[in-house]
Amino acid sequence: MCLDFNCYKEGKRYSECMRGVLLAGGTGSRLWPITRAVSKQLMPVFDKPMIYYPLSTLVSAGIPDILIITTGEEQAQFRRLLGDGRQWGLRLSYAVQARPEGIAQAFLIANEFLAGGPAALILGDNIFHGAQLGARLRGHRDLDGGLVFAYPVADPSAYGVVDFDGDGVVRSIEEKPSAPRSRYAVPGLYFYDGDVVKIAGSLRPSTRGELEITSVNEEYLRRGRLRVEVLDRSTAWLDTGTFDSLVAASEYVRVIEQRQGFKIGCVEEAAWRAGLISEDQLRELANPLRRSGYGDYLLRLLDWSQPVPAGSGSGDRP
Ligand code: TTP
Repeated sequence: MCLDFNCYKEGKRYSECMRGVLLAGGTGSRLWPITRAVSKQLMPVFDKPMIYYPLSTLVSAGIPDILIITTGEEQAQFRRLLGDGRQWGLRLSYAVQARPEGIAQAFLIANEFLAGGPAALILGDNIFHGAQLGARLRGHRDLDGGLVFAYPVADPSAYGVVDFDGDGVVRSIEEKPSAPRSRYAVPGLYFYDGDVVKIAGSLRPSTRGELEITSVNEEYLRRGRLRVEVLDRSTAWLDTGTFDSLVAASEYVRVIEQRQGFKIGCVEEAAWRAGLISEDQLRELANPLRRSGYGDYLLRLLDWSQPVPAGSGSGDRP
């Protein structure tokens, strides 16, 4: 049975439901020595492990069936942290990427898991936060072709860069260009239809020896099936791959959480707002977490739930 309540209601076959792939391998060498023994995606970003943020983004997007890809040595720690996801109404599976041979390799590893259906890929070190972001993402689960986002940044040359016309039609997409054609970087969240595994399988490694996600996007573009959506300035997109960006992300989360009283990247909250767990289940999850204050937050959500002010939450519940 499909765990996704919306798809289930629409009577879709399981294979037609979009599944999530969370890529959390890599070497994390820009954070050495911190990440020599522990995965970057297990590092704290203020009050929770980094992986909670991309995980809660997928849950808010209405995608509860998720494959988590890690290195072989680190998988046991992720399993200890997240389990099979049942406690959150999710279905989490695990797979290993033996070597960091590129983001697009995730689709080859996820081939069986995706079973020919559409996929949302999110990078384990990317944080998204914005009003109504979940609702916006939920609108893309039925897409035809590929969809990437565009986000204006000061230094686009460190990223994939997308150039598009006034109608949002993509003109070019380039990986880390020295002379970027636009100031729009492509964040680490991508939606594709069922062709993506075949496309990833047809790629050759780049000069840096990786299967590039930009090459997947280029192929969709060549077929005239790549769309781009601009994430406006009210959405925050942070990555956390360097000492400075890791501290900046922690500081961002701390400031917003303490000012607003709402947490960012709280998987329990996202699952509850999506209707994947009940109030009683949320209460049960809260109890062992009370000493840190995290559990008290979950309990407060129940008090506040009638009603949550418009635009403050990430999901469907009042
Ligand atoms: P990167 O930050 O590009 O790479 P990294 O995490 O290995 O770090 P560094 O550059 O400091 O060595 O990766 C972005 C995200 O994608 C991150 O969450 C790790 C993940 N990733 C993989 O899991 N496998 C891969 O082959 C690649 C390239 C990235």
